[in-house]
Amino acid sequence: MKLQAPIKLIREILNAGRAGDTAEVCAWVRTRRDSKNVVFLALNDGSCLENLQAVVISGTIKDEDMRHVHTGSAIRVKGVLVPSPGKEQALEVQVHSLEILGPADPAAYPLQKKGHSLDFLRTIPHLRLRTNTFGAVFRIRHHLSQAIHRFFDENGFVWLHTPIISGTDAEGAGAMFRVTTLPVCCEKPEQEALCEDFFGSEAYLTVSGQLQAEAGALALSRVYTFGPTFRAENSNTTRHLSEFWMIEPEAAFFTLNDNIELAESFLKYCIQYVLEHCSSDLNFLAQRYQPDLLQDLRAAISQPFHKVSYTEAIEILRKSGHPFEFEPRWGADLQSEHEKYLTEQHFRGPVVVIDYPKEIKAFYMRLNEDGRTVAAMDILFPGIGEVVGGSQREERLEVLLRRMEEMKISRAALNWYLDLRRFGSVPHSGFGLGLERFLSFLTGMRNVRDVILSPRAPKLIGF
Ligand code: 4AD
Ligand code: MG
Repeated sequence: MKLQAPIKLIREILNAGRAGDTAEVCAWVRTRRDSKNVVFLALNDGSCLENLQAVVISGTIKDEDMRHVHTGSAIRVKGVLVPSPGKEQALEVQVHSLEILGPADPAAYPLQKKGHSLDFLRTIPHLRLRTNTFGAVFRIRHHLSQAIHRFFDENGFVWLHTPIISGTDAEGAGAMFRVTTLPVCCEKPEQEALCEDFFGSEAYLTVSGQLQAEAGALALSRVYTFGPTFRAENSNTTRHLSEFWMIEPEAAFFTLNDNIELAESFLKYCIQYVLEHCSSDLNFLAQRYQPDLLQDLRAAISQPFHKVSYTEAIEILRKSGHPFEFEPRWGADLQSEHEKYLTEQHFRGPVVVIDYPKEIKAFYMRLNEDGRTVAAMDILFPGIGEVVGGSQREERLEVLLRRMEEMKISRAALNWYLDLRRFGSVPHSGFGLGLERFLSFLTGMRNVRDVILSPRAPKLIGF
């Protein structure tokens, strides 16, 4: 049943309102402009980028009320829609009554003028939502999330809600937040203390829902997770958050090639969906931050992603003659300058890199025939670097056990995971997409801290 809300959104009024309609609007004042006999108010309720212009003719509203109408104050107006003589909009509302819902002291409200720097806005994440930029970003984030769920639903993937508190280190990276109810200063030896801890064993905020998603895929065939993920690495960059959102599909019977195809069609579907649903927000962000934004998005969906093996990528980098700070070397991780060179100079578009050396990837990735590389895939985007990391999983019990031993990973905590290989094991694959990194590409906002509500990073907790 459609909601019959008593108050219409500005988006609805601008889309479907007609001259002569009565209108009631609740919104925040973006700007107030006084001329001789008229006050013009730009009203915004966050439902779309565009403002609704409200026109208050002198004498209609008591001076006492008009004294509280400032940038930032919340008001309710009632009136009639009339054709606007201004070029900016087709309709405006001629105000008959006005009520102050929440004043905003102009001497104290921090968003008085337009064009604040992103650095400044990062200091007031609870108010930056009221700017055009962050309104656009969060509407796009919403539509992207819708696209993600639609894509998986249309392709037979079941949304699995994997736990946030986890007993296992899925990535073996060792950068986890501990979850405990033990006192801050606990004098007891670790093992003894753990017995008294809430779960009676070690617990962490999850770094990935993948291992649990694998259990799902080996029962439901195709699943995906979409939730918050936590990493305690001390990375202060424009691409790292301590709390970020990750989408992790996992599919039984999928090989690495099927996985690449899945990731490519998924990313393209999302880009296309955002282009179709967010054009005015995208145009605004392009104008403000990145003139080539729309071309870049269209280019990303117009041709197949480039595919290259890790070994070939290292060769390309070594032969490039480019003065890298870190020398590209087989066996070492790709640095962000290498990713940048591959996506922005060599291939000029998204690149899928496969078959990495086993030493630099997680224990669960399937060992290739050569015994040196694993069936991994990273997808790199221009301007961002790695947005997707995934692989075919090691489904052979003995090989998996050998890999865990080599990497000194304890069997005890992963016994349940090994069961998946003991009973009805099949080839399967999956990947993780970092939502904020992808959004950074989609919005042109080149810092992941500007596409999440309240960023968490080393020494930063916000609101
Ligand atoms: O490459 P990662 O670490 O892969 C995994 O976690 C696998 N378990 C995924 C899977 O196969 N199911 O992380 C996946 C993606 C990265 O490509 C990146 O986009 C994002 O998650 N990511 C981060 N985003 C923001 N801040 C961080 N600290 C991130 N770490 C990873
Ligand atoms: Mg990765």
